[in-house]
Amino acid sequence: MKKRKILILNGPNLNMLDRRDPKIYGGETLEKAKTNCTQLAKELNLEIEFKQSNFEGEIVEQIQNSIDKVSGIIINAAAYTHTSVAIRDALEMFKGAKVEVHISNIFAREEFRQNSFLSDVVDAVISGFGIDGYTLALLGVNNLIDDSI
Ligand code: DQA
Repeated sequence: MKKRKILILNGPNLNMLDRRDPKIYGGETLEKAKTNCTQLAKELNLEIEFKQSNFEGEIVEQIQNSIDKVSGIIINAAAYTHTSVAIRDALEMFKGAKVEVHISNIFAREEFRQNSFLSDVVDAVISGFGIDGYTLALLGVNNLIDDSI
């Protein structure tokens, strides 16, 4: 059987995850999250593409380019979570499984982080498990996807 593909998207400043406040972000690297996902994907017989961009338009294009091509998207849009109608609109067009991830618990932080433009156009949200959120999301997406793509 052909491997189903999952796109994992990361937004601004997540490339410098290990330089961000360790009390909030755990001091881990994004590379470690990628390694964990790659390992789990092998076990689940999934193909993954793990990406990071500091540019809103690039994230929009990555979502657009994945339409009808991948089975699921896992997205940590980082600060764009709280600002981007454009990323929301792109996600809305994508009809596969969608999970929003946050490393920190955004609901226990500043008020401006407690609103997400994405949460109501995705299937599920994982927030506050550190980088384990990525592998938890991968497990969840694996359960959500069907054989259609
Ligand atoms: C984040 C939370 C956002 O509020 C923040 O802007 C980030 C990371 C998280 O993973 O906890 O950059 O999405």
